[in-house]
Amino acid sequence: MEKVVKFLKEAGVYYLATVDGNQPRVRPFGTVNVFNGKLYIQTGKAKDVSKQLHANPKAEICAFKDGAWIRVAGKLIEDDNRDARVSMLDAYPDLKNIYSPDDGNTEVFYFEDATATISSFTAAPEVIKF
Ligand SMILES: Cc1cc2nc3c(=O)[nH]c(=O)nc-3n(C[C@H](O)[C@H](O)[C@H](O)COP(=O)(O)O)c2cc1C
Repeated sequence: MEKVVKFLKEAGVYYLATVDGNQPRVRPFGTVNVFNGKLYIQTGKAKDVSKQLHANPKAEICAFKDGAWIRVAGKLIEDDNRDARVSMLDAYPDLKNIYSPDDGNTEVFYFEDATATISSFTAAPEVIKF
């Protein structure tokens, strides 16, 4: 999983796809944090992306960096553990301007049953499960 986290952090931006009924939805995201050995992302309960993940946790993210791209497919499960939110906000101090652990909006999701695939035009795909 470390390689996946490193790739996503170095890419800076990834695109998170969710399912909204029978309509795919995608948007840019940037948050990535490891807490208790799991890969977390952060969002706000007020956002459509949050509502979509609660209705259907299946999600996929994609990022591109240095001629290679990564896709991580799996389920994004909310973790209501306050320490998980604190860890995320500590990793992204700028987010503390708009989010706090107890604001009732901030939430973090971790990947479950995830399959990451790193691909390029020059090498065989590398598959990492976590
Ligand atoms: C570079 C970049 C990174 C972003 N990272 C996040 C993020 O980590 N979490 C988040 O909730 N929104 C993030 N956003 C904002 C979302 O893309 C934006 O709120 C989007 O509209 C959410 O999707 P939704 O409208 O389907 O709910 C980011 C935006 C940009 C441009």
